Amino acid sequence: MADDEKKRHFCEGNKCLAFIFVVVIAAIVTVAVVTFVDKEIRTVHKYDNSKLPWWKQTVVYQIYPRSFQDTDGDGIGDLNGITKRLDYIQSLGVGAIWLSPFYSSPQRDFGYDISNYTEVDRRFGTMKDFERLMNETRKRNIKVIVDFVPNHTSNESMWFYESRRYNDTYKDYYIWSPGIKRNGTNKNDPPNNWLSVFGGSAWKYDEIRREYYYHAFLESQPDLNVTNKEVQKELQNALTFWLEKGVAGFRLDALKFMFEAEDIFQDEVGLGEYEYDESQEHNLTTNMPEIYGILRSWRKLSDGFKDKHGVGERFIVAESYGLTHAIRDDYYRAGSVPFNFDLIMKLNNTCNGHCVRKILEESLAGLGPSSEFWPNFVMGNHDRSRVASRLGADMLDAMNMMLLTLPGTPTCYYGDEIGMTDASYTFEETKDPQGLHFNKTGYMNHTRDPERSPMQWNDSRNAGFSNGTPWLHVNPNYVTLNARSQSESNSPTSLQMFRELVKLRKIASFNNYNITFIDTAQPEVLAYIRFGLGQPKYVVAMNIGGDNNEVITDFSKSANSIVGRVSVMTPRLSKASGLKNKGIKLSQIGLRGGDGMVIEVLP
Ligand code: NOJ
Ligand code: MG
Repeated sequence: MADDEKKRHFCEGNKCLAFIFVVVIAAIVTVAVVTFVDKEIRTVHKYDNSKLPWWKQTVVYQIYPRSFQDTDGDGIGDLNGITKRLDYIQSLGVGAIWLSPFYSSPQRDFGYDISNYTEVDRRFGTMKDFERLMNETRKRNIKVIVDFVPNHTSNESMWFYESRRYNDTYKDYYIWSPGIKRNGTNKNDPPNNWLSVFGGSAWKYDEIRREYYYHAFLESQPDLNVTNKEVQKELQNALTFWLEKGVAGFRLDALKFMFEAEDIFQDEVGLGEYEYDESQEHNLTTNMPEIYGILRSWRKLSDGFKDKHGVGERFIVAESYGLTHAIRDDYYRAGSVPFNFDLIMKLNNTCNGHCVRKILEESLAGLGPSSEFWPNFVMGNHDRSRVASRLGADMLDAMNMMLLTLPGTPTCYYGDEIGMTDASYTFEETKDPQGLHFNKTGYMNHTRDPERSPMQWNDSRNAGFSNGTPWLHVNPNYVTLNARSQSESNSPTSLQMFRELVKLRKIASFNNYNITFIDTAQPEVLAYIRFGLGQPKYVVAMNIGGDNNEVITDFSKSANSIVGRVSVMTPRLSKASGLKNKGIKLSQIGLRGGDGMVIEVLP
């Protein structure tokens, strides 16, 4: 009876109804806020990076096959050499390798002058060797990205041979012009003043066809006429050939050069006499809008292979220097990723931490969740001085730490993981045509041989690269600077740090777009926080450009915590501090020039 009584009396009167009304409204408001306003609360699940396509989850390791590992004693690296070194590549933790060209080529530009797109050059091995490499990489879950050079072929390509002879099928495969009479001379001059990237006129008179042909690079690299539908078909066929072999993507060479102005009787303004100036606009020979249509067609072609060979989405990455953000975004929209060369082109050894931050912010502007454009960073390649030489050996580890902890896909050039430096070659020893286009005094500013010296595997003869005579001699510092010694060393090394970082960056905190730069009072210090929803938070800090004096920074406010645990340190700091995996006060992080630390923030 008493219970009934209670029930009847439960919530009688206006006060109680008003109370219930208020509670219900409060509940509705809370649900609405949680659902629509605060994304963080709404997403109850942790950020999960495993759904990202493979190329967003990995580091790309560039191999210049000629200089990686020779197995047949001819002094030139080969495909079997790459296969032989797969355990090493796997030990780095990288999930993809990009191979510079290994196709049939007279090697005037060391493979970037292709005479047959679907053949392996005998110097690098055979198609069987390539297939074996593919099988072995597959076992190790390493993807293979191959180079593709659509702008030009070798002058020894059958297409060019036939084109010179005016064969009906091939006559329009290249860019030919009878030229123009300028100074009342008998012989025609080239149709315009365009310069080759390697220096000198971009036009070469051909005695057989009695016309000029255009070459953005070497005379032995005639530019294809990519407006020709037949040429487009040939390029598609070549891409299809390699897709069918199971490659995971393409690095597209010199893409911005692929089309030229339709009217070739226009001069470019402001050009020099001989030397090509990369900083000029070149609006008649680069960045023509036709590029995007072709890119889209290659994306479509590659997407047709999504479900084949267990690869998934193919990675199409384009090499074009000096792009504006607007053009960069057009590459993205067309289904490719344009290489971001800011860490090569903008970073120099006068740039301190704050200056690097500016470069990074500028690089990342417009990328991320709003655009869905995935960032990428490149620290070195076969065309530019090595990072350890460009920025100094003492900056190497901090630079690798930065490369591997930034958002997006990093590309690492072979040998940079151990801090290989540029080798020096006399003019007489020089092999690179870009260097040889200049004289004994000028070649040094142009030759790319120094960054192409053979991989330094160990301290045995020729650094373990070859039993024969290497095509470029090994850098003599291999005796102390080599992969084996860094791998086996009991005290921390560049290579060991590299491996730790590659491993660390696989976790969700790093494998996303999120980065918050930290305002530091010390101009030397570059610092940022990497985080993912529901994931541990990391402070990454480096002293860039500072001297040997320790600089102390307080990260406790920006990290919103006073303690952290050191995850990775640059080797010298690791040796000196002994703090690895230990707790650390975020209010007092000490870094000398070239030091860097990745710290997990503890709650
Ligand atoms: C860019 C390549 O990376 C470089 O090595 C080559 O010389 C030019 N393109 C021409 O193919
Ligand atoms: Mg060989």
